[in-house]
Amino acid sequence: MHLPAFRIMRISILIVLVVSISLLSVLFPASAKPATFDQDFRVTWSDSHIKQIEGGRAIQLLLDQSSGCGFASKRQYLFGKVSMKIKLVSGDSAGTVVAFYMNSDTDTLRDELDFEFLGNRSGQPTTVQTNVYVHGKGDREQRVNLWFDPSLAYHTYSISWSHSQIVFSVDEVPIRVFKNNEARGIPFPKSQAMGIFSTLWEADDWATRGGLEKINWSKAPFYAYYKDFDIEGCQVPGIASCPSNLNNWWEGPAYKELSPLDARRYRWVRTNHMIYDYCTDKARFPVTPPECYAGI
Ligand SMILES: *[C@@H]1O[C@H](CO)[C@@H](O)[C@H](O)[C@H]1NC(C)=O
Repeated sequence: MHLPAFRIMRISILIVLVVSISLLSVLFPASAKPATFDQDFRVTWSDSHIKQIEGGRAIQLLLDQSSGCGFASKRQYLFGKVSMKIKLVSGDSAGTVVAFYMNSDTDTLRDELDFEFLGNRSGQPTTVQTNVYVHGKGDREQRVNLWFDPSLAYHTYSISWSHSQIVFSVDEVPIRVFKNNEARGIPFPKSQAMGIFSTLWEADDWATRGGLEKINWSKAPFYAYYKDFDIEGCQVPGIASCPSNLNNWWEGPAYKELSPLDARRYRWVRTNHMIYDYCTDKARFPVTPPECYAGI
């Protein structure tokens, strides 16, 4: 039987595909395997309250009356992108806080990029507070109410950090952008590497409705879940291996400014879900901080 030419072509294309896919998986075996907790992180607070699950590819954090808990990356990073899938505390989570942040650990010169998830009474929206510290100066809080229940499923929370801007995203939707406005004399974090940290703790003196809502300990223990740890950036130590900072993918055009689509999504978040912006808090800042005029 003779196969028609076009079938032979289709079959050979298929063979080429199969061969190149298997070659790829031989060359890049790691890409098929999700990262485990132990590869990049260590427990920093209360071992007994952190449990590895799914063969170390996910973890469970626990908060009870005796303690919260926390973990940190083993290494530090200078620029890059860090993403994590998190399933937040479910039910009556008022007074609990999950923090996920990058921090240079340098006391008075601290650079820090914060995500803080403030729990709420059942059925009330979870608030995400972000903050940006540059060289020890913070006080740049913004708050957004999430447009979904973050305790029902894992959602992706990420921080991307290039020489041009820092973007906080929820499921790849930007919720906060901090632009490099050094040209206008506004400091931007770029000389200190930062570690990645996360904690689950009790903060019912301030977190929910300004501290009015207290933790309901009868609902304890509280759990948060993390998986798909993904950190890509210039590793410290090892920084010498990425000397030409500006050639890394996280410095590419997509990370210099928001795409038109992302800019639209960002406006949607700010219009519909933002509940607090330090930039417009005249009581705290009679003189509007300079970066607030710089736009997005
Ligand atoms: C909790 O819910 C209340 C009522 O819907 C809302 O005003 C508040 O922003 C929510 N978040 C926090 C952290 O209080």
